[in-house]
Amino acid sequence: MSKEVSLEDIVSLCKRRGFIYQGSEVYGGLAGTWDYGPLGVQLKRNVMNLWWKTFVDDREDMYGVDAAILMNQKVWQASGHTDTFTDPLVECNNCQSRFRADHLEGDTCPTCGQKDTFGEPRQFNMMFETHVGPTASEEARSYLRPETAQGIFTNFKHVVDSFYPDLPFGIAQQGKAFRNEISPRDFVFRSREFEQMEVEYFVHPDTWEQAFEQWRIDIKAFLNNLGLPEDKLHELEVPEDERAHYSKRTIDFEFDYPHKRDELLGLAYRTDFDLKNIEKASGKKMDYTVKGTNERFVPHVIEPSFGVERALMAVLVSAYQQDEVNGEQRSYLKLPHHLAPVRVAVSPLLKNKEELVKKAREVYDLLKKQFGNVMWDDNGNIGKRYRRQDEIGTPHCVVIDFDTLEDSTVTIRNRDTTEQERVAISELTDKLS
Ligand code: GAP
Repeated sequence: MSKEVSLEDIVSLCKRRGFIYQGSEVYGGLAGTWDYGPLGVQLKRNVMNLWWKTFVDDREDMYGVDAAILMNQKVWQASGHTDTFTDPLVECNNCQSRFRADHLEGDTCPTCGQKDTFGEPRQFNMMFETHVGPTASEEARSYLRPETAQGIFTNFKHVVDSFYPDLPFGIAQQGKAFRNEISPRDFVFRSREFEQMEVEYFVHPDTWEQAFEQWRIDIKAFLNNLGLPEDKLHELEVPEDERAHYSKRTIDFEFDYPHKRDELLGLAYRTDFDLKNIEKASGKKMDYTVKGTNERFVPHVIEPSFGVERALMAVLVSAYQQDEVNGEQRSYLKLPHHLAPVRVAVSPLLKNKEELVKKAREVYDLLKKQFGNVMWDDNGNIGKRYRRQDEIGTPHCVVIDFDTLEDSTVTIRNRDTTEQERVAISELTDKLS
């Protein structure tokens, strides 16, 4: 029987096994930043590549872009971020700790434990400011982008002029975003540097509801493909007074994380807010002409916005399992095979037997060509190797033993059932596929 996974289980596994480390840890860390280790970067790429394949490569109506992170400050003035991208900040008058007012429960300071010591909340802008070039002047001011979306809107006209797409069509982008969160927390869930995967889907204003509904369906199918169980996923219709300044309708897709049910991604109807603002601020037309007609208008936008870290955390939480094997406790990641950072591990039964190692190397080379992310593992005894591979979610371990030398068969051991099967090397890649 599996117990409910805790945040500590995930954090500890991620650190121990080389998925995710605290950023700058050797110098005491930098709050809200995280570094991905060898397995974490592979898992993250697998999630991002699946998203790109699903929403860009496999579709005819999507175009990818990769815009600069630093953008002209006018982008953020026009989008409303310089004025309204704020969170309410309160300070404890006793210990000077700072908190996000809407995250506080009660009137006791979580740091010093004193009651009624909070000052008046004030609005704190979450954009990281910097200056481009050698002078720290007002004109040189820029920001690290707080969302990838604006890099899409500013390239809308370029894509239209280069590709003449029919409506509806979408532009997709993946990349880093930065927010100076007042209190980063819950592991990578709320970070100051994170990654987004966003689509701006341009539609005729009359068809936005239809497109919105289709995106709901497409998002659910993708989350299913990530291996997230349906009973842990929930849709929240965000009330008007809690929606972002640009949105006329938003559904938050929430997931039951160990810390609480919380937002995994958002689906928003951004109307023509952004393109109209760009028109006003730049003086350039952002309208679209329907081919073969005189019909011109500024398209409206449906925006599915995914956070990579939140998707990754949901994948880890969903995959984390505990059971008992031969009277011993085991924890393992039941990751979908297409997401596993290591697809297959290959081991010689004994690492000091030259003929076993030679044969195992041949099998390793064969599988590496086929699957790419194959691990050579000869550390410790075979039982320890299985435990380690289980813990990082490797679906199959292939072991080369003395029988292999006689009959060219190997053992495949299954992560989920722990069962072992004898297979001819000539059938191995088919079997694992
Ligand atoms: N372009 C729309 C937009 O950025 P958002 O709801 O502010 O909307 C979208 O962010 C997604 O980005 C969130 O649903 C979440 O997955 C992710 N995200 C936002 N802030 C984050 C943070 N501080 N740390 C990790 N992920 C974050």
